[in-house]
Amino acid sequence: MALLRNDPAPLGKVLLLPGDGIGPEVMREVRRIMDWFARRQGIDFELGEGLVGGISYDRHGTPLTDEIMERAQAADAVLFGAVGGPKYDDLPFAQKPERGLLRLRKELGLFANLRPAKVFDALVDSSSLKPELVRGLDIMILRELTGGIYFGEPRGIETLPDGQRRGINTQVYTTGEIVRIAKVGFELARKRQRRVCSVEKANVMESGVLWREEVQKLHDAEYPDVELSHMYADNCAMQLVRQPKQFDVIVSDNLFGDILSDCAAMLTGSLGMLPSASLGAPDAQGKRKALYEPVHGSAPDIAGQNVANPIAMLQSFSMMLRHSFDQDAAADLLDGAIAKVLAGGLRTADIMQDGMARVSTSTMGEAIVRELDKAAA
Ligand code: IPM
Ligand code: MG
Repeated sequence: MALLRNDPAPLGKVLLLPGDGIGPEVMREVRRIMDWFARRQGIDFELGEGLVGGISYDRHGTPLTDEIMERAQAADAVLFGAVGGPKYDDLPFAQKPERGLLRLRKELGLFANLRPAKVFDALVDSSSLKPELVRGLDIMILRELTGGIYFGEPRGIETLPDGQRRGINTQVYTTGEIVRIAKVGFELARKRQRRVCSVEKANVMESGVLWREEVQKLHDAEYPDVELSHMYADNCAMQLVRQPKQFDVIVSDNLFGDILSDCAAMLTGSLGMLPSASLGAPDAQGKRKALYEPVHGSAPDIAGQNVANPIAMLQSFSMMLRHSFDQDAAADLLDGAIAKVLAGGLRTADIMQDGMARVSTSTMGEAIVRELDKAAA
């Protein structure tokens, strides 16, 4: 295959943040694949690595140091593993592992979170839904990632005069925040089936009413060629498990998008199969800040056992090749190798089925490298 780059210079700076739990072991498999692309295709990156989450808290007393924040700002892309674990459950909010991730999203301005849920043919039977409902499923959940109730003020826990305590969070969206995420949704739809479903709770929330109005206005003014529908979030959750193929692109806010994307992930058979890209606004040169991470969490119950599914992490790398470095051919090569290995019957524990071969995290990575070798031979 004539993919080899002649240019010996690295394509850009990538910061690896493996994090906690299964993060480091799935990141090891990305390193294996990155080595292959560097060696065989001349697709090379200037790599740095750092701590985030619980491991950073253990070492530095904070889930994300300013130094790592600066290195993330200077990187062309960040590859992120996972954060969190039961050990950190009782920490105050500001020190929780998750705050490290939220700070990265917020300070890098990563407002657009792309969570594609695609069902591999070989995995149709590992979904908890009937095969005919999920065969060929390909939906894109687009989640707003830097606003809404995750960041809204006021927030906190206060003690009332009568001694009761009160927890407060604020759901808040401005027109600008709604329009910029909706734009990304319509643009994505134009490259797919040209259908957008915008999701909120306009029946009970003013922020939802505004969301619906702004999305409709933008549609009518700039994207009349895209089919737009609106749906309440509870109905959308139900429709996702009833008839998931009715959707093309789903656009939603930070909280509903979080919930709906876990639901969509499971349609594909396992949380271990869902990658994501978090993108900022393009700068004057058209470059956008970006962070790529699997949707699964740190899975502390299986961490360190070499049984985790590395595929969501590997597909996150594939999204990085596409969205940050325009390396679509390389991304296709990797996606194809993953599909071949699954078709050949290898399964990690989370997607294990009768008659298939159960393999470890590292064996799955090695098998994908072998498929890459074959494809590039
Ligand atoms: C996700 C996760 C995060 C979120 C957590 C780890 C903070 O659930 O990326 O979906 O709620 O956004
Ligand atoms: Mg989530």
